[in-house]
Amino acid sequence: MSSVMVMVLVIISLFIPAVRPSQDLWTLECLPTVGIVAETTVINCNFKDIQEIKIVAVSLKKIPENMPIFEYDGKNSGDPRFSLKNPLGPSLQISETTFSDEGEYLYRVVTDKGAKKVQLKITITAKYKNIFSSTWPKDVTHGGPVDLYCNATDGYPAGFIHWFDRSETNWTMNSDLTKTTKDTNGLKSVALSSKLTFKSINLDLAPFRCIVLNSKYMQDGESTLQITSARDDSYKESPITSNTTHIVAGVMVIGSLIVGLLCALLIFRKKKVQRHEFEKTAQDDPESCNTS
Ligand SMILES: *[C@@H]1O[C@H](CO)[C@@H](O)[C@H](O)[C@H]1NC(C)=O
Ligand SMILES: *[C@@H]1O[C@H](CO)[C@@H](O)[C@H](O)[C@H]1NC(C)=O
Repeated sequence: MSSVMVMVLVIISLFIPAVRPSQDLWTLECLPTVGIVAETTVINCNFKDIQEIKIVAVSLKKIPENMPIFEYDGKNSGDPRFSLKNPLGPSLQISETTFSDEGEYLYRVVTDKGAKKVQLKITITAKYKNIFSSTWPKDVTHGGPVDLYCNATDGYPAGFIHWFDRSETNWTMNSDLTKTTKDTNGLKSVALSSKLTFKSINLDLAPFRCIVLNSKYMQDGESTLQITSARDDSYKESPITSNTTHIVAGVMVIGSLIVGLLCALLIFRKKKVQRHEFEKTAQDDPESCNTS
């Protein structure tokens, strides 16, 4: 009898952890965050499987430091750039983000339904600036060789440069990207330089456009490269149309001259023939002349 009791107790005790109070079933989740230097970074967090919940206090520690970098218990303390995005939810925000904000954090939220801890990760990127496109040589001739350059600086981590012509044809495959990493007192940055080489450029493809993308393939900026021929007269209109108009005009001028000449000749001859015939009839038939 007592062994049966023990069995029942064991079975009941096995079920106890599954029937925990409902307030322990909720979770706190935060998404991985990518912040941009000098901008406001939002760390999106939310409560799962609970409706009515109120935040009492939060604390954010950067691993491996011991002191919280930010705390809230009705008012903020710690680094003044940190705050709750909205006191009703657990999302955080950092204003004027810096590279030193990158890292792993331990985030603890105390609510009226208990407390939860979550580890979160922030990576920081810097936007590419000074996007500048140019040609080498500076003076380009239609059909001549040229290197198109597109440079950008102060970005992080290493990004990409893509090339397109006026009809949106993608020339990126033909380009060569150089990445130069710089580290000045922990301030990391990358300079990008892309070179697109043509042995013989067709200037009808211009303008070219280079697009600078960050490491996540998001566009940081672009530059449009207008190219006009160094010898302006040789490339104002497309050569085919200007040649055709010249030929057509020439044919018309010469044609009208010939026609005019032929007409003049015809009229002249007609008059001569008429006069000749008149004289002839006058001689053959003298009476017709004498009657007058
Ligand atoms: C252009 O080409 C590059 C390299 O092949 C590729 O990564 C990129 O996705 C292309 N872009 C578009 C808009 O097709
Ligand atoms: C672009 O970068 C390349 C490689 O760093 C450099 O040789 C070139 O002079 C730069 N062009 C401009 C216009 O800054």
